[in-house]
Amino acid sequence: MRKLVLFGVLALGAAGTWVYAQSSEKAASNLTAPTFTEKQAQAGETVFNASCAGCHGKELQGGFAPALKGDKFIAKWSADGKTVADLYTKISTTMPKGKPGSLTQDQYENIVAHILATNGFKPKELRKEDLKNYSLDAK
Ligand code: HEC
Repeated sequence: MRKLVLFGVLALGAAGTWVYAQSSEKAASNLTAPTFTEKQAQAGETVFNASCAGCHGKELQGGFAPALKGDKFIAKWSADGKTVADLYTKISTTMPKGKPGSLTQDQYENIVAHILATNGFKPKELRKEDLKNYSLDAK
């Protein structure tokens, strides 16, 4: 029994290391600017105003809670190899404060799009001039 437990712990440890290695490998390779659609950002603004703006401000300028735009915010959430997934996880697992996890995945995705748009990232729709960068072969 003891041996079995020990094996279990070792196996978990090994799996954890493997998952960790996988994710840090992913984060290190070719990060690109995040993409989202205008529609997501607009839907996100509606949810944000209802669920987040009371503490973070309608313009994301901060107030009771930290600002969610500006150089400091961008620096904090891109430091140490952080990706937008880290920001998403922070939001979806701890916000709205007092009711963490109470929104749907769609709503959290849309909120992230709204935060990106407010920080100057541009929605990426199909544009003629970009088409030369796209191949039907590259899904
Ligand atoms: C009741 C007030 C309140 C509400 C509502 C709220 N937050 Fe927050 N939020 C806070 C406080 C306080 C902090 C700082 C402490 C912390 O990080 O937990 C914070 C931190 C954050 C951070 C990290 C900021 C940083 O500089 O690291 C993000 C991102 C965030 N909130 C997003 C949201 C989003 C998105 C919503 C809506 C779904 C939301 N919050 C709703 C109070 C709130």
